[in-house]
Amino acid sequence: MSFTSMWADLEPIGRDAASGGYRRYAWTSQDAVLREWFAGECQARGLDVSTDRAGNQWAWWGDPDAAVTAGDPGVVTGSHLDSVPDGGAFDGPLGVVSAFAAVDALRDKGFTPSRPIGIVNFGDEEGARFGVACAGSRLITGALNRLRAAELADADGVPLTEAMAGAGIEVDHLGRDDEALRRIGSFIELHVEQGRGLVELGRPVGLASAIWPHGRWRIELAGQANHAGTTRLADRRDPMLALASVIVAARSEAAKRGCVATVGKLRVEPNGVNAIPSQVTAWLDARGAAESDVWAIAEAVGVAGGGSGAIEESFTPATSFDQALTARLAGVLDGAPMLATGAGHDAGILASAGIPSAMLFVRNPTGISHSPAEWAELPDCLDGVRALTRVLAELSG
Ligand code: HGY
Ligand code: MN
Ligand code: MN
Repeated sequence: MSFTSMWADLEPIGRDAASGGYRRYAWTSQDAVLREWFAGECQARGLDVSTDRAGNQWAWWGDPDAAVTAGDPGVVTGSHLDSVPDGGAFDGPLGVVSAFAAVDALRDKGFTPSRPIGIVNFGDEEGARFGVACAGSRLITGALNRLRAAELADADGVPLTEAMAGAGIEVDHLGRDDEALRRIGSFIELHVEQGRGLVELGRPVGLASAIWPHGRWRIELAGQANHAGTTRLADRRDPMLALASVIVAARSEAAKRGCVATVGKLRVEPNGVNAIPSQVTAWLDARGAAESDVWAIAEAVGVAGGGSGAIEESFTPATSFDQALTARLAGVLDGAPMLATGAGHDAGILASAGIPSAMLFVRNPTGISHSPAEWAELPDCLDGVRALTRVLAELSG
């Protein structure tokens, strides 16, 4: 099955006809179709598919447990298939399709790995439905514990555990999965670049050096519902004013510190054109090269330490990828350039859990991501597959 035919199979799944973006949210019917696609691709290659305690899907070429017993665990590649609302086609799927294509290329060359090669589909990487990014990898590493996971629910009040159970996951076993973790000797995630670094360098493939620290807060702003036409300004308790202050404070602190801050999601009650809101819920996403800067943004907005009724939904510390592994891959890839990123990834969660991890980036001509406009040219995608093939041969040979 070639890269382009796998891509064509995936293309229509979860795509919104109007926006052209993807709505592939965790543990939904679209997600189920994606997971079936993943299982089908594995079976088509004679790879046994299994799911771990968080529902992440794994397939192995070779025996991962024999390799663990021999003290020489396998190398894993893969990414995620879920998306943000109206996300692009490449964020996640490019890493999964490239993983299958790289295994095909190794087999076509008659390569036999001396340590197993695994392919993984991490569930719920975007956190679009339940609010915690990289939920699948955080669960198996223990970065998201089962009690916290049990509190998560979507906008309709559907608990994460109910949605997972509906997808056939045994939620009583939710939590850290050491059996899955010890099978991973190293993890390599290929991902579309979410920026223009490779465009500016004129290179199709690069390596990640680090992931910026990243905080996500939910901010509840209370107001007093009232009539938009008859309530004097002096008598209003309008939470939209507080929201405006949050956005301006976050943006100016971020600008001061060379960071980024975004309020991209709101919930307004009762959400009527002619009604002053009783309640506004806002989500703040802040990122920067230094953790102290990210906390300074939270401080400036008044959300640090749960201030102003804010809930810290997730905080991901700075991630530096394994330098020896990344240097080794740079050697294999003829000195591929190194790039830091502000985007979070499962590879970052595994790296933070002590698993040697690295990332390959594929050029994105516009740098745009988390948008229907996200793009990567086919020749660059195929360069990415060739690079991943060389990396897997190096690490499993
Ligand atoms: O938000 C992120 O950086 C990632 O796409 N989950
Ligand atoms: Mn993403
Ligand atoms: Mn991603």
